[in-house]
Amino acid sequence: MAATADDTTTEARRSAYYVTTPIYYVNDRPHLGHAYTTVAGDVLTRWHRQRGERTWYLTGTDEHGQKILRTAEANGVSPQEWCDKLVEEAWKPLWRHLNIANDDFIRTTQERHTARVQEFVQDLHDKGEIYKGGYSGPYCVGCEEYKLPGELLPGATEDEKLCPIHKKPVEWLEEENYFFRLSAYGPKLLEFYAANPDFIQPASARNEVLRFVEQDLKDLSISRSTFNWGVPLPWDEKHVLYVWVDALQNYITAAGYGSDPERFAELWPASVHLVGKDILRFHAVIWPAMLMAAGLPLPKRVVANGWLMVGGEKMSKSNLTGIAPQDLTSHFGVDAYRYYFLRAIPFGTDGSFSWEDFTARYTSELANDYGNLASRLAAMVGKYFEGRLPAATAAGPAEQVVADGLAAAVKTADRKIGEDLDFAGGIAAIFEFVKLVNGYLTEQEPWKVAKDTSEEGQARLATILYTAAEALRATAVLLNPLMPESSQKLWESLGAEASLGALAEQTVDTVADWGRLPAGSQVTKGEILFPRLEEKPAA
Ligand code: MSP
Repeated sequence: MAATADDTTTEARRSAYYVTTPIYYVNDRPHLGHAYTTVAGDVLTRWHRQRGERTWYLTGTDEHGQKILRTAEANGVSPQEWCDKLVEEAWKPLWRHLNIANDDFIRTTQERHTARVQEFVQDLHDKGEIYKGGYSGPYCVGCEEYKLPGELLPGATEDEKLCPIHKKPVEWLEEENYFFRLSAYGPKLLEFYAANPDFIQPASARNEVLRFVEQDLKDLSISRSTFNWGVPLPWDEKHVLYVWVDALQNYITAAGYGSDPERFAELWPASVHLVGKDILRFHAVIWPAMLMAAGLPLPKRVVANGWLMVGGEKMSKSNLTGIAPQDLTSHFGVDAYRYYFLRAIPFGTDGSFSWEDFTARYTSELANDYGNLASRLAAMVGKYFEGRLPAATAAGPAEQVVADGLAAAVKTADRKIGEDLDFAGGIAAIFEFVKLVNGYLTEQEPWKVAKDTSEEGQARLATILYTAAEALRATAVLLNPLMPESSQKLWESLGAEASLGALAEQTVDTVADWGRLPAGSQVTKGEILFPRLEEKPAA
């Protein structure tokens, strides 16, 4: 039956904007690199929520495989005990601390996942997509991946070869395994990429995947029989499923695949899979091929972020130089933390963190440009109008420039953050607007106008202060997905909660409607949004 316009609308209303992070290995505690992807996903989802869309944000943990098993053994506990402890003591608390508003948290050891995974692979087996064979090759336990001999780095001895990502020796594995017929999917994948040019982003990631798939794909070994920490294959319980094939399915098992058809129809296909560039092939090649084999729709986009680097190397557990997210949030605060990495590093490229750069941005952009604007405005409304926001009765061209600046900022930020995942660009547009408002106040000099007690002078003063307050009303909404705590403080200090309702209810499409904040709102000098930094803690 042909779809009518009405069907399309119903469809659009029914589907949610569904964002996922990679599910993280729980062999250790989270570090800045994990938090980077998770914060990005949170901001993206909150942005869409602020657009008034129905959204769903999923994160979780990857708990099977040799890496976790070995870590647990080394610590003298069972792998399940190890995972339970790390999830409850390290991973979930960090996401709460960073204000991550995930709707679900999937763990691959949960039955809601393992039972569905078994059904999924059984289905592929029944369809003839899986066969038994043998494999031998170099394997990196850090990556949980067979490597190609050509990509390895030389080690300390002639026999030793290193993983190019972990720089640790690979192991030679030789096993009888089950295989997924990945090689059959090369042409179909290339066809799909051609028909969906935005499927893999950024362009560099897309090109890498295209080059990889254009060579012949090899079938994928999907089971292991030398250890048992994994999901048993339903037709041959001597084997457990390869951890990646198990893990990738979290995106559908958490969305109700095989258990809640209505929810699955609403969530799947996912709108965006956020991944680190190191795990791009799993998401842009293996996962789509598995979905094609199962007859399920493919995710709409896979977006790869770059790496946070330390001393020229990918930040990882071994080269962290002792920095945990909490070391930074205790100094800069959670909002500034969320701000800094997305503002300073163009999404998709690698970037380095430095105390100096963070401190400089904190001081000039957050404390001076933004925080000071908010406290100056509140102080002036307090001083000249006893805290009651006056009406703008004498608006002219200067005020029009501010209103136009807002409209432009909203348009740019909505496109860059909401569509392009160019967080740095979108945030820059919002902060350009903050600068414009600062410039407006510097030019209008309300502190001088205040001395003119004529009716005209007072009307000008009222108009200037109203304009700045109205600009801040919009800024609180625009920055809410990125910095929810300070936005809420600003929202309350403008008295907007009382007149306009909850900040979360404000939508992006009305944020540029000039004049929403009613005159008469009670403006109070709230807490300082971004206080002066203490001395840097000793290293
Ligand atoms: N468990 C797999 C993912 C399975 S998804 C079905 C995994 N886990 S991981 O914990 O090793 O890393 C997950 C992700 O963490 C990376 O792909 C990346 O998104 C993020 N990062 C880890 N280190 C990072 C940096 N130094 N910089 C930026 N992100 C990094 O791979």
